[in-house]
Amino acid sequence: MAFLECLHLTRNYGKGAVTVTAVQDVSLQVEKGEFLCLTGRSGSGKTTLLHLLGALESPSTGAVYLDGREITRFSPRMKSHLLRTRVSFVFQSLNLITSLTILENTVLPLRYSRVKRMERIEKGRKVLQEVGLGKRLGAYPSELSGGEMQRVAVARALAKCSDLLLADEPTGELDTATAREITDLLLEVNRVHGTTVVVASHDPYVVGKAARVVELRDGKIS
Ligand SMILES: Nc1ncnc2c1ncn2[C@@H]1O[C@H](COP(=O)(O)OP(=O)(O)OP(=O)(O)O)[C@@H](O)[C@H]1O
Ligand SMILES: [Mg+2]
Repeated sequence: MAFLECLHLTRNYGKGAVTVTAVQDVSLQVEKGEFLCLTGRSGSGKTTLLHLLGALESPSTGAVYLDGREITRFSPRMKSHLLRTRVSFVFQSLNLITSLTILENTVLPLRYSRVKRMERIEKGRKVLQEVGLGKRLGAYPSELSGGEMQRVAVARALAKCSDLLLADEPTGELDTATAREITDLLLEVNRVHGTTVVVASHDPYVVGKAARVVELRDGKIS
């Protein structure tokens, strides 16, 4: 079985006549250490599939397996443990907390995994260094550019040392040059740390760089 695998995944929203099928009968295998891009036009189901793969949402039917375990059957408690320890998300809306410095933002998820304070700070410094923000540890999100904020979101995902990184349109709001930098950063994370990366994007640069591209059309793999 592949590292990450989904079988006949379907996700409906709404009821009766107004049902929207966001993801329809998707089966997909992702090997450990792969860099996969989910592409497709707006509304094709990329975000929904990404959320299903990371157990942020539950499918209407079908199953997701991570390392051979069916995570779609996990209890809420097991799911939250999974999200604290093994799966990282980089959301399009970066979810940075404006009242915290970028160092504090980066290591916030570690607090929930009960990592000790000194260790958290150490880790935060290291990953912020890695994304090129080592000199801005005390800056607040409002003091950063869009690209730099995106870097913090990647750093925060890295701090957890998860083995699966799911990124939703990580270059969506950025100019071409910065979008390339963020893409290259994700590629480097994949290469250096061996993190399995699934990125939802319709950015041609990301699509071009990904080792494998899966295109969604109306919720289905085309
Ligand atoms: N919570 C929801 N309730 C109802 N419909 C939803 C919900 N979330 C998504 N949808 C619908 O499911 C379909 C797929 O949405 P999704 O967000 O997965 O697309 P996407 O490919 O990520 O699009 P984009 O490129 O614009 O981000 C769309 O038709 C959308 O309107
Ligand atoms: Mg989306």
